[in-house]
Amino acid sequence: MLCHKLRIGVLASGRGSNFQSIIDAIKSGKLDAEIALLITDNTSALAIDKAKKHAIEYLAIRPEECTTKDNYFEKIAEELKKRNVGLVVLAGFMRIVRKPLIDAFPNMIMNIHPALLPAFPGLHGQRQALEYGVRISGCTVHFVDEGMDTGPVIIQAAVPVFQDDTEESLADRILKLEHKIYPEAIKLFSEGRIEVEERKVRIKGFIPSDISIVNPPLRS
Ligand code: GRF
Repeated sequence: MLCHKLRIGVLASGRGSNFQSIIDAIKSGKLDAEIALLITDNTSALAIDKAKKHAIEYLAIRPEECTTKDNYFEKIAEELKKRNVGLVVLAGFMRIVRKPLIDAFPNMIMNIHPALLPAFPGLHGQRQALEYGVRISGCTVHFVDEGMDTGPVIIQAAVPVFQDDTEESLADRILKLEHKIYPEAIKLFSEGRIEVEERKVRIKGFIPSDISIVNPPLRS
């Protein structure tokens, strides 16, 4: 068990709805943690507005200001370490995380992906699922390694894919579950209940029933 409140560093590039779901979980008392810092690579990210609204410190660190890609992630790691961050959360961060950050936070970086990994990694997971013609898709929270969406899986949740789905309708259905399982995964981490053995994650103690679900129910 951690004896102090978990300090979270969030990395986001865009609209920040997952960032918001973490803020909401903390505000409502569901998640006992604090967001120490938002880092973005995009000075017009909507996530910045959310940070401002909730008085969360934010930094825009532009890769162009750094000498190399590795140096970019060294800089990010440095800022997170300065603020005693214990968990790094990628929330729509559009870059592949490199070794300097991964080494600084071993098994302490999470990502959420809008598909059931290992299916449909990379960009446009929802579009890939539709194009492939799967009947079920969903979202995955996983630890980050140096690959593209390849790290150990923590929680997955599934949704049906309907024949008349568009990329947008499927993305909306998946996003609702993203907003549930991301705070849940962070909560498990904050309670010290996640163990990683090689590439498998073991969750200790009672497992909430909604971490592997098909939701919403199939249409009648
Ligand atoms: C989400 O679909 C997430 O799964 C993916 O990027 C999107 C970010 O959305 N990694 P938001 O910025 O959290 O709204």
